[in-house]
Amino acid sequence: MSEAFEPNNILVTGGCGFIGSNFVRWVVREHPGVHVTVLDKLTYAGNPANIAGLPADRVELVVGDICDAALVDRLVASTDAVVHYAAESHNDNSIADPEPFVRTNVHGTFTLIEACRKHGVRYHHISTDEVYGDLALDDRARFTEESPYRPSSPYSSTKAASDMLVRAWVRTYGIAATISNCSNNYGPYQHVEKFIPRQITNILCGMRPVLYGDGRNVRDWIHVDDHSSAVWEILTRGRIGETYLIGADGERSNIDVLRAILRAMGLPEDDFDWVRDRPGHDRRYAIDPMKLRRELGWRPAHADFDAGLVQTIQWYRDHESWWRPAKEATEARYREQGQ
Ligand code: NAD
Ligand code: DAU
Repeated sequence: MSEAFEPNNILVTGGCGFIGSNFVRWVVREHPGVHVTVLDKLTYAGNPANIAGLPADRVELVVGDICDAALVDRLVASTDAVVHYAAESHNDNSIADPEPFVRTNVHGTFTLIEACRKHGVRYHHISTDEVYGDLALDDRARFTEESPYRPSSPYSSTKAASDMLVRAWVRTYGIAATISNCSNNYGPYQHVEKFIPRQITNILCGMRPVLYGDGRNVRDWIHVDDHSSAVWEILTRGRIGETYLIGADGERSNIDVLRAILRAMGLPEDDFDWVRDRPGHDRRYAIDPMKLRRELGWRPAHADFDAGLVQTIQWYRDHESWWRPAKEATEARYREQGQ
C-alpha cells in the first residue's frame, strides 16, 4: 500500500452535480482541515444549491468549463489534488445527442490530466462500471478490474475513452493518478432524469412511473455517501496507477426497485406504465469490490438498500423546491424521445 497522502486543498470538478456535491458535503463533514475548490460549468445537471450553505472558508465555487485549458491550468497549479467528477452523465441524452459527451468526457479529461502532468498534481479519475459493457442475467459473474472494456452507449464509450487517456498518461508521463469505476448511485440531489428520482417525483406529481423494456435489467446500487468514502480512501491510500472498482453488493432488477418505491409510497405494485426500451440497453451490471476491500479495508456504511431508498424518498418529499424547476423540462425531453 502507498504511504497515506494528506491533501489540504482539493479541486473537485463537477462538484455541483449529484455525486460531486455529495462528495463535497462529505469532505466538509469528515475532513475539517481540507479546503475544496469546485469547478463546475453549471450545465442543466449542475445546481449551485447542491453545495449551498457550506462554510465559505471551506468551499469555493468557480463556474467554468473543464475544457478551458487556461482556467484549468490556473486552478490545478494551486491545488494538491484533483478529483474529477464532471461529465455528461446520462445515457438517454447521449443517445439523443452524443456531441457534448465527446467534448466534456474526453477532451475535458485530456485538459485536466495535461494540467496535472505539467504541475505534478495528484489526480483521481471518477469512472463507471458501464465501461465494461453488460453481463447476462443468468450469469453469476461480476465485473473485476481485469474485465475487458466493452462499452455500449455513447456515454459509456466516452467514459471508457477517458479512462484510457488516464492509463496512458500514467504509463507514458508517470502522472500520479488512480481510477475508480463505480456502480449506480442513489441518494439526495440526484437529477430527476435518473431512474429512482424520476419515479419518486412522478408519483409526487400524480404521474405514473415508467419502466423501460421488460423491467428485468439489473443495476448494482450503492448509496452516494459510500461512493464518497471509497473515493477518499483511494485518493489518500490507493496505489498510484491502479484502478479500483466500487460497489456495495446491491444488485436489483429495475422492476424490483420500482415495486419497492411504489410500496414505500403507499401505491399498488402494478401502478406504472411500460414504455419504449432504451436502444442498446445494458442488461446487467455487477461489481466485485474485493480489491478495494482487501487492499484498503473499505466497507459500505449503507448496506440496507430498502432503508436507503425510504430515506431518499423522504428527501424528495422534503425538497420539492429543489427538484420541481427541472421536472417539466425533463419530462418534455422524455416525451420527445417516446420515453
Ligand atoms: P451529474 O450529471 O449529476 O453531474 C455532472 C456535473 O458536471 C454537473 O454539475 C455539471 O454541471 C458538470 N459539468 C458537465 N460538463 C462540464 C464541463 N464541461 N465543465 C465543468 N463541469 C461540467 O453526474 P453524476 O451522476 O453526479 O456523475 C458524476 C460522475 O460520476 C460522472 O463522471 C459519472 O460518469 C460518474 N458516475 C456516475 C454514476 C451514477 O450512478 N450517477 C455511477 C458511476 C460513475
Ligand atoms: O452504472 C453506473 C451508471 O449508472 C453511471 O455511469 C451513469 O452516469 C448513471 O446515469 C447510471 O446509468 P444507468 O443508465 O444505469 O442509469 P439510469 O438512472 O438512466 O437508468 C437505470 C435503469 O433504469 C436502466 O436500466 C434504465 C432504466 N430506466 C431509466 C429511466 C430513466 C427505466 O426503466 N425508466 C426510466 O424512466
